Amino acid sequence: MENNGAKIEEGGVSSKNKIDYDKLIDQFGCQRLDQSFVDRVFRLTGRSPHIFLRRNVFFPHRDLNEVLDAYERGDKFYLYTGRGLSSEALHLGHLIPFMFTKYLQEAFKVPLVIQLTDDEKCMWKNLTVEESKRLARENAKDIIACGFDVSRTFIFSDFDYVGGAFYENMVRVAKCVTYNKAVPSFPSSFPHLFSGNDKLCCLIPCAIDQDPYFRMTRDVAPRLGYKKPALIESSFFPALQGVSGKMNAGDPNSAIYVTDSPKEIKNKVNKYAFSGGQDSVENHRKYGANLEVDIPFKYLSFFLEDDEELEHIRKEYGSGRMLTGEVKKKLIWWKDTVQQGQRLLMRWSMRSWQLDHFQICSTESAGS
Ligand code: TRP
Repeated sequence: MENNGAKIEEGGVSSKNKIDYDKLIDQFGCQRLDQSFVDRVFRLTGRSPHIFLRRNVFFPHRDLNEVLDAYERGDKFYLYTGRGLSSEALHLGHLIPFMFTKYLQEAFKVPLVIQLTDDEKCMWKNLTVEESKRLARENAKDIIACGFDVSRTFIFSDFDYVGGAFYENMVRVAKCVTYNKAVPSFPSSFPHLFSGNDKLCCLIPCAIDQDPYFRMTRDVAPRLGYKKPALIESSFFPALQGVSGKMNAGDPNSAIYVTDSPKEIKNKVNKYAFSGGQDSVENHRKYGANLEVDIPFKYLSFFLEDDEELEHIRKEYGSGRMLTGEVKKKLIWWKDTVQQGQRLLMRWSMRSWQLDHFQICSTESAGS
């Protein structure tokens, strides 16, 4: 799909211009999330709205109000999200839906299913079955490290879980469209979790490039007598090289990975993060930074919790009083960037029993 010269496809976006999200929402036929929704989440859960809601990282949606109406009546829902295995470890952009899903799970105290589409990657990326399964376990470690509630989370890989009621739904769906990430949108695919609860609402937090798939899922649902899943979608997270770049799994320098050490993070930010600052200090003081294209500022606006500090940077940097180096330093030392790097330690200390705690169905007993 084309938008402002941008090409939007699964796995991201490539564009020379800024994406026009208003246009995209209209092209896709999504709804926009507004302040009254944010207030409503606050009222229903008693939790302050997540930074991704406050900063409009997640704002296109489908049928979110229905999910909240049901919740208000006392009907729970479940969350569903997933991951294809494009890399050995997750990067900051991959983490966005998972961080947000963790917040939703905690705020609403609802069950969550996470699909790892290892079969797809095996078929389309020319990986062996064994390698795809290994990647699924590696990725599961990063996902678990986001801090999901063990008692409410079911992580599964297609290779391990597809069978029984799930496979029956796969075949039902395949008669209409051919892809399998529709199936977890229907509670009857998980009889051990939602038996007798076939009308349970499903809410899918995901990046906006997934919308076309779930639009098809929503088309198929009534034909099978199932409820349409609701969606809440995030905008794109830019590559280090700039808002027009696409994070590329093949280029480790295009993103910050959870396995990067603090030193690697520092090096990547200093060397590769695209700056909207001017080419000389004199010009910078005179014209200020272009915050629309500045990556250190963009990253901070996704993650820096403190609204006042962000506002301060916006003013000082935008007017040229603050230099790019200072903003980069803030990003490097933003405690969570370093923490993402520290997830490495958690990954290695993750034993297989911890993976199994999340009911990863696996026949392997890898001790890593
Ligand atoms: N196809 C997605 C990818 O390649 C993975 C995925 C499966 C997913 N189910 C999902 C993503 C549900 C979001 C929501 O990344």
